[in-house]
Amino acid sequence: MTLSPDLNETTRMVHGGACDGGLVRTPGPPVQRGSTILLKHSRHIYDKSLVTYGRGGLATQATLRAALEDLERADQVQLYPSGLAAITGTIQALTRSGDEVLVADSVYNPTRRFLEGTMRRFGVTARYFHPASDADAVAALITPATRLIYLESPGSLTLDIQDVPAIAAMARTRGVLTAIDNTYAAGVLFKPLDHGVDVSIQSLTKYVCGHSDVFMGMAAARGEAAAMLAESSHEVGWAVSPDDAYMALRGLRTLHMRLAQHGAATLRIAHWLTAQAEVGAVLCPALPSDPNHALWSRDFTGLCGVISIILDGASDAAVNEMLDSLQLFGLGYSWGGFESLVIPCDPQLAARRFPVVKAGPMLRLHIGLEDPDDLIRDLRQALDRLGSGATSRGPVLAAAGSH
Ligand SMILES: Cc1ncc(COP(=O)(O)O)c(C=O)c1O
Repeated sequence: MTLSPDLNETTRMVHGGACDGGLVRTPGPPVQRGSTILLKHSRHIYDKSLVTYGRGGLATQATLRAALEDLERADQVQLYPSGLAAITGTIQALTRSGDEVLVADSVYNPTRRFLEGTMRRFGVTARYFHPASDADAVAALITPATRLIYLESPGSLTLDIQDVPAIAAMARTRGVLTAIDNTYAAGVLFKPLDHGVDVSIQSLTKYVCGHSDVFMGMAAARGEAAAMLAESSHEVGWAVSPDDAYMALRGLRTLHMRLAQHGAATLRIAHWLTAQAEVGAVLCPALPSDPNHALWSRDFTGLCGVISIILDGASDAAVNEMLDSLQLFGLGYSWGGFESLVIPCDPQLAARRFPVVKAGPMLRLHIGLEDPDDLIRDLRQALDRLGSGATSRGPVLAAAGSH
């Protein structure tokens, strides 16, 4: 915009550099920043059909939402500042005081924390069902107060898979909504909305962003559920920055290739782990011996990088020594980035209503994009630290809870 030279310098500094459009075309969208939107006419100020304020997102967020709508086969996607915010925002949007939520017991711990804390304070209760429950078993729990069935499949840490199409179909006939944490599948390996689920949630922090440097979440839905999410987001005021939205879009460009590599390396390492004497069990639904294998083969098109292992009895000290000796696996929460990670899980399993029966400490691994031969060498030298093993079957580390 050209400013009149008659204006004082202060005014020219305040108004100079405003962009009137006319941007050149680049492969990605512009990172459009703005809280205020400058409207063309005074009659536009209260026109509800126009975007009149930047909180709901501008060009960058709109481009990301459109791409995620395509990926999740949704009518509408809402963006949230973290995956946890997408979970809490969805539960809040779909329930009201007096409602009950039926929840797969294998959910991500902070989901349970939100249900038991904030939601309980607002009069919404949660009941947990065994993650291996079939549709009939879940149907038997429904009461007149049941508003929502909340799934996570495969579930955090123990990778239990639910019969999602059957549970979603049953819920629909009973007038109950369904939502699923679809972060494992990253919107690629499983399409919940095509299987009748009302809301598919992802922590985009994981595979979509893919580089362990951005927090974001999304909830994808069709029809009435989409309208409920949109209204709630508008009321509550969730917003994400255009810079973060750009990073998520950048992650989407390589999502399928990265997942294919994560999945192939994970399968190879899972097979290798089953042959190691120190490993009592490998939790990976692609292994034919895994109890979730049939559902995984039917519903999923691949694996991501998450697996868990149960060590065949080992002392806390030996497991800590093993973890500290790892060179390529970082000790850290989260997953879905380019790098390999590991955490001991036992303190997190303590919150479950149905105890996980196992003979030794459990570790969750994230298999990153490193060469799998190098990862196998790193794991082998770490397993050597377990020595002849010991007897403790308790939690591996003293610290409890999760992020
Ligand atoms: C299954 C699952 N869902 C949701 C989240 C929360 O995502 P965020 O860290 O983006 O809040 C996590 C984080 O670890 C997760 O593992």
